[in-house]
Amino acid sequence: MDDNQFRKLLERQNLSWAGYRKVRKGVKKRIRRHMRELGCRNIEAYLSELEKNSEDRKQYELLMTVSISRFFRDCKFWQTLQNELLPNLIKENKEKIKVWSVGCARGEEVYSLKMIWEQLKENIGNLPELEIIATDMNPACLERAKAGIYPSSSLKEVKKELITACFEPKKGGISYEIKSFLKKDIIWKQSNLLSDPPGSGFNIIFLRNNLLTYYQEPEKTTAFKKIIHSLSPSGLLSIGSHEKLPFQTDKLKPVEPYSFVFKKLF
Ligand SMILES: C[S@@+](CC[C@H](N)C(=O)[O-])C[C@H]1O[C@@H](n2cnc3c(N)ncnc32)[C@H](O)[C@@H]1O
Repeated sequence: MDDNQFRKLLERQNLSWAGYRKVRKGVKKRIRRHMRELGCRNIEAYLSELEKNSEDRKQYELLMTVSISRFFRDCKFWQTLQNELLPNLIKENKEKIKVWSVGCARGEEVYSLKMIWEQLKENIGNLPELEIIATDMNPACLERAKAGIYPSSSLKEVKKELITACFEPKKGGISYEIKSFLKKDIIWKQSNLLSDPPGSGFNIIFLRNNLLTYYQEPEKTTAFKKIIHSLSPSGLLSIGSHEKLPFQTDKLKPVEPYSFVFKKLF
């Protein structure tokens, strides 16, 4: 499959070439396998098969998702969250802090937050209730997230003391499982970020390395507006360190000096 053919696959769902360029090798491999299973010899035959069969179409949509993630991805953001953003939110004396992780992959982002929260509990003491809803369209990712088992290579950016406190080694250290106390109070839900948000009044939304990287207009703007709408006034929006907002808006103000966190003004 050459890049022109791959672009046809992206266009079908309004996905972005710029977002997929670097990761296309792995995606092409998965799609080629699916084409073989369906007996399609070329992209045209595959696209026409997808038109005919909704199950195959669903499968294609899942195969196009990119679930690369890691604990504490963009470490500057996590430091800021731990040292500044969360302590400020906690000072506001809320009873509950509501968080939505959009496109949570295998849970790395959610468990990174839980690890930070545990550290804050030790340092600050009494914390508000933390309610996390984590959504992804890929059910296989969600199953992996719930199980919370990761190869040791995924833990490269996790500090040694956190590995000891938060993970259980398995198979002699080949893999590590998140300890059960960290798995509590997380709602995992299969949901498409292009459809309606799973709630409202979120104090923090993680919208990192999915909508803004892999989708094109008009989906990007339409979904983004709904997501922002579900953020509470003065709630925080976190985006990936290489991402930009899809349009200028006076509803969101960057939390200076960072370019990856925004505060909702009204
Ligand atoms: C590259 S991972 C990013 C994971 C994490 N947010 C991070 O920054 O490390 C993107 C995730 O978004 C999910 N995703 C992509 N499109 C989606 C959609 N339309 N609805 C819900 N999840 C989606 C994928 O299944 C994948 O697990």
